[in-house]
Amino acid sequence: MHKLSAILLLSVLFTSCQTSLSEKETKMYLEKGLSISKSTGKELSGTLTSKMKSGGVIEALAFCNAAALPLTQQMSDKHEVLIKRTSLKTRNSLNKPTENEILILKAFQVNLDKGGVLEPKVVLDQNGTPNYYAPIIVEQKCLKCHGTLNKELSKSTDSIIKSYYQDDLATGYSEGDLRGIWSISFKKSKS
Ligand code: HEC
Repeated sequence: MHKLSAILLLSVLFTSCQTSLSEKETKMYLEKGLSISKSTGKELSGTLTSKMKSGGVIEALAFCNAAALPLTQQMSDKHEVLIKRTSLKTRNSLNKPTENEILILKAFQVNLDKGGVLEPKVVLDQNGTPNYYAPIIVEQKCLKCHGTLNKELSKSTDSIIKSYYQDDLATGYSEGDLRGIWSISFKKSKS
């Protein structure tokens, strides 16, 4: 009797909790993830660039502070997914990585250190939910706010940043470094 219920339980677990994705599903999530991260990135960096031009770094910082998370949330709602930007060294502690994200961030870093090319990936989590992860690489234009203090990052910019984010860890980067990842969690389909 016990054996039977154990078998029943196992079969329920296996049918309800998918353990791998087909090639077709992986490709679909890669494409969706890429398109969602691109459009969210465009929303963020488009306004950031225009604020930098019109009001300089101070206005751009105020924009990031006020709008980065609400804008990401808006895009999450629109696409019915959970979009996040995270890092091993976060600026906003609300962006702190989960354990799964830490593993991905570390794996990308190891790969980059070896001179590898970082490719987006789709991974099923413990609940059978597909997750898309893609590297975010530091560019020249990021250094005013994420570069090295007293080099690209001025003392005054740094103190404004620290006034918004007391726990800021996101400085000291160079061009080509891994700044963080896009992490997009696809809710399980309701079939
Ligand atoms: C005007 C200053 C500024 C510039 C330029 C800038 N950032 Fe940021 N960045 C911020 C602020 C402020 C936050 C915190 C936003 C928030 O509240 O989520 C942030 C957060 C992030 C995060 C989210 C994770 C975390 O640390 O909280 C990533 C990833 C990131 N930036 C990458 C970049 C990249 C890549 C570039 C260049 C393409 C860039 N940033 C340019 C100010 C800037």
